[in-house]
Amino acid sequence: MHVVSVVGARPQFIKLAPIAEALHSAGFRHTIIHTGQHYDANMSQVFFADLRIPEPDYNLAIGSGTHGVQTGRMLAALDPVLHDENPDWVLVYGDTNSTLAASVSAVKLHLPVAHLEAGLRSFNRAMPEEHNRVMTDHCADLLLAPTQTAMDHLAREGLASRSRLVGDVMADICLRVATDNEALDAPLPFGLQSDQFLLASLHRAENTDDPSHLSQLVGALAALPLPVVLTVHPRLSSRASQSGIALDQGSLLPVEPQPYPQLMQLVANARGVLTDSGGLQKEAHILGTPCTTLRTETEWVETLEGGWNVLCPDVRVLPELALRRVSGHPPKLFGDGHAAASVAAALAADSVAG
Ligand code: UD1
Repeated sequence: MHVVSVVGARPQFIKLAPIAEALHSAGFRHTIIHTGQHYDANMSQVFFADLRIPEPDYNLAIGSGTHGVQTGRMLAALDPVLHDENPDWVLVYGDTNSTLAASVSAVKLHLPVAHLEAGLRSFNRAMPEEHNRVMTDHCADLLLAPTQTAMDHLAREGLASRSRLVGDVMADICLRVATDNEALDAPLPFGLQSDQFLLASLHRAENTDDPSHLSQLVGALAALPLPVVLTVHPRLSSRASQSGIALDQGSLLPVEPQPYPQLMQLVANARGVLTDSGGLQKEAHILGTPCTTLRTETEWVETLEGGWNVLCPDVRVLPELALRRVSGHPPKLFGDGHAAASVAAALAADSVAG
């Protein structure tokens, strides 16, 4: 069995780590194509090194651009590589432009496509990620869903027969890092004290690309009464500097994008997480840290149960939400850390069936 993984952006490298391990254990041949959508060392290489992911077999070095330009360049560069590799499966991850480009290229070459993290929906048709995930689900042959909610969305769109519930591979890596990584027990960086700081991240276009909205959001974070460690994604950095918005104002402590084990240490020790990232909402939930999602909706609706995650549609309620306590332990929503093995099994079973 030969599987080609196409990845390009930070969250995909994180998902690739447990998948690469599981495909290796299953005895599959695995080829990795990096589109080059993310290229800064702290957005890309550091994850391959820290998470022990094999070096990509191809790096297409596409870089940044408008959605059309970036996706189009990827399509043109992927066609010959996928044609030559001619795998049993092209495995695509999540909802980025790299995911969409690989799905379209593969489907046109009549190569079977499997979509990992299928079935997520925000129902917000303005989000680039929503376009990418809906189009990818409808052109893929095998839909690997992380949750029952995702399975239900796929069924409502007529895709039930191609859908398999495999669990969430981000839980695999998060639990692995949380249980066997020394970084979690090391002293906290930046002079922080456990439970005495908040961890924030902002990178979604709907938060970063409107200067007045961004300025309000950053101002609200800066006014919180605890230090707010703000991991600065390149999109946030460029939009803030274009609009003259200071990221070091008030309580804010801006830091570079963090390597995965260090980020999990911050999540586990923070009083709360404030984010528009899908991954961080889940990681906060798994590690038992209250999360406030800086959006009007979430794809990960399960995390809202029990108040472990709350939506913040209006920054005026941010102080109350950011400092709230949640008692007890969050329910286990994302599996027991073996989703990647279920992915390997589904690829094997459905390839034989096909
Ligand atoms: C992409 C995904 C998003 C995902 C996010 C994770 C799409 C449509 N969006 O958003 O779903 O949550 O990755 O991080 O695919 N840049 C750099 N260095 C880099 C990469 C980007 O400086 O290594 C800058 C460039 O100015 C670029 C901007 O960041 O224009 C945005 O990068 P891009 O890859 O277009 O989208 P993300 O916002 O990262």
